Amino acid sequence: MVIPFFDLKAQLLTIEDEIKSTVNDVLDSGWFVLGERLERFEGEFASYCGAAYGIGVGSGTEALHLALVAAGVGPGDEVVTVPNTAVPTISAIRFAGARPVFVDIDPSTYTIDPVKLSTCLRDRAEAGGRVKAVVPVHLYGQSADMGAVLEICKAHSVPVIEDACQAHGTEDNGKKAGSMGLMGCFSFYPSKNLGAYGDGGFVTTSDPLLADSLKELRNYGQKERYDSVSEGFNSRLDEVQAAVLSVKLKYLDNWVDRRNELASLYDSLIDHEKVTLPVTRDSSRHARHLYVIRHPERDALMAYLKENGVSTLIHYPIPVHMQQAYRWLGLGEGSFTEAEKAAREILSLPLYPELTDQDVRSIARLINEFTK
Ligand SMILES: Cc1ncc(COP(=O)(O)O)c(C=O)c1O
Repeated sequence: MVIPFFDLKAQLLTIEDEIKSTVNDVLDSGWFVLGERLERFEGEFASYCGAAYGIGVGSGTEALHLALVAAGVGPGDEVVTVPNTAVPTISAIRFAGARPVFVDIDPSTYTIDPVKLSTCLRDRAEAGGRVKAVVPVHLYGQSADMGAVLEICKAHSVPVIEDACQAHGTEDNGKKAGSMGLMGCFSFYPSKNLGAYGDGGFVTTSDPLLADSLKELRNYGQKERYDSVSEGFNSRLDEVQAAVLSVKLKYLDNWVDRRNELASLYDSLIDHEKVTLPVTRDSSRHARHLYVIRHPERDALMAYLKENGVSTLIHYPIPVHMQQAYRWLGLGEGSFTEAEKAAREILSLPLYPELTDQDVRSIARLINEFTK
């Protein structure tokens, strides 16, 4: 038995004709950057997310970077987020010139702990800190507790920028990821629930001024051609990727439903006293980007599954504050105990729409048989 962690070829086979014909159309058009396909996809995905505007950019990292700059974050400012995220959340904060401030997570959902966020914002305000934005991460496809996060941030007059890079199709209390904060940032990295065939990213917002500013920032700060009104960057979602994403967007909800079906099957079949299953908050629609279990002997379980042909991954093995690149922040082990404990125990199992029920049964059986 060989079950890969994900299988993009299997997905392509289900939509191959449409994808190849749309890519050919772009090649035939002779127009590759900032064209009608991007404009169409921007409208489609913004509307899918329940936002008035959408801006296609070069990657999820760039989406976060440009959103922070558009929100006025700059050198000397602080941006609050979690330590158990993909490193690019922090790269974006650093690109904007700001300093990351971490808040520990709720250990059951792996998203920002609202009580600790509240304490952090109060402490930073008392210390004369300059918190200019909060970036909750909808990790693994589940929304952070946005009701609580938005209320706390409103009380401190701090804007919320959603890191929705793993949350295409996620909802919290009926609201889509990307429609709750001032801006929402998505990644179209190929393995995401909605993935391009290369890098890509997106910012959603319902503020027209921010939308204009993001469009400038992604294109050298230009309002009109060769007329830069601000200092910008080069970060654009190209026409090939936009066309591919328009095709794939039609399937996103079905794919998310299938991911949820498979996740429920895992939930019902995994029966091992040492395994903690993922927890879904009642108010949220989980997009199931990743299916993450916990086990105290995680490394041994991972090796056992590998020996039996099942590939798994760890998202993420080292919390950002403990990565070599961020030691200068002076936050050692013990700073964020929930994130650190989770990093030692979490394991992501294969989960993608093309996985079969039989694959899930086989993986669950292996986990149940694992005794350590
Ligand atoms: C939570 C999170 N934030 C940011 C990013 C960065 O996205 P990209 O790889 O498109 O730059 C990712 C992608 O892996 C992510 O998972």
